Amino acid sequence: SGSLREHAQARGVQIGAGIEAGPLTNEAQYRDILAAEFNAVTPGNEMKWESVEPQRGQYRWGPADQIVAAAEANGQQVRGHTLVWHSQLPSWVANGGFGAEELRGILRDHIEVEAGRYAGRIYAWDVVNEPFNEDGSLRDSVFYRTLGEEYIADAFRWAREADPNARLYINDYNVEGINAKSDALYELVRRLREQGVPIDGVGLQGHFILGQVPGTIEENLRRFADLGVDVAITELDIRIPMPADAAEIQQQAREYESVLAACLAVSRCTGVTVWGITDRHSWIPGTFPGYGAALPYDEQYRPKPAYHALHDTL
Ligand code: XIL
Repeated sequence: SGSLREHAQARGVQIGAGIEAGPLTNEAQYRDILAAEFNAVTPGNEMKWESVEPQRGQYRWGPADQIVAAAEANGQQVRGHTLVWHSQLPSWVANGGFGAEELRGILRDHIEVEAGRYAGRIYAWDVVNEPFNEDGSLRDSVFYRTLGEEYIADAFRWAREADPNARLYINDYNVEGINAKSDALYELVRRLREQGVPIDGVGLQGHFILGQVPGTIEENLRRFADLGVDVAITELDIRIPMPADAAEIQQQAREYESVLAACLAVSRCTGVTVWGITDRHSWIPGTFPGYGAALPYDEQYRPKPAYHALHDTL
């Protein structure tokens, strides 16, 4: 008995959901489950640069404001997502052809304006999202290309100035287990901490394929935590080749359990956020054709075995 959020609360961890303004506006079941079961939310798209400033100087805050207000009404913490990312970046930034001085100013303004707007209302910001390639080198984004790796330290410093109360995270995917990419992330975080850069946390997204959840998540979380930062699973989903059969749905539940258990075993792991609530609204089928059924509720908002596994593990 009891909801996910009641159990999470008792353990002092977050059980979060990546959500979107569309279904939040249009579907009562979505709103009800969100309010009843989750104690944290992350806007799925609404705080990304292309959403908040699609044209230079033209801001659109409505959907992000709506999500933050709904979270406050529900007593939920908000993870801001995300300030610096190569993707869902408006073309005026990505293709503007700016030199280093101008781009640096643009990035600084963006962080100050957005983190400043929500200052005091955001539990944690994903300040820099997905900076790494799979081999552990830094991704050739417009920021890296133009500003060099200093863009990362600068982004954290500007975010701290804009919202001194938010926990500041770096966030990436395929870094959940121990591998070349997570080794590089580890080295970067170690160096940033050593240099006094204000970084407080490491987010491991957790977009998994059924049967491919790494066995080293707990060990990996622990090594980051030992650097003196918080850790979190920030975008968990486990996709299945479609159609998913009953055995796969059961296996998925065990894999959800293993990810949550890894987090619960590490005291600096602040919680797990699932990237959506229901298979009715998930980025998976559109992005990974042939895959689906990745979330804890099915398309009719019925709790799946994965929901019960989370519930019983919390
Ligand atoms: C995804 C959203 O869920 C989709 O709606 C959108 O079309 C693309 O982005 N890593 C991230 C998230 O950090 O922002 C991404 O979200 C999923 C991968």
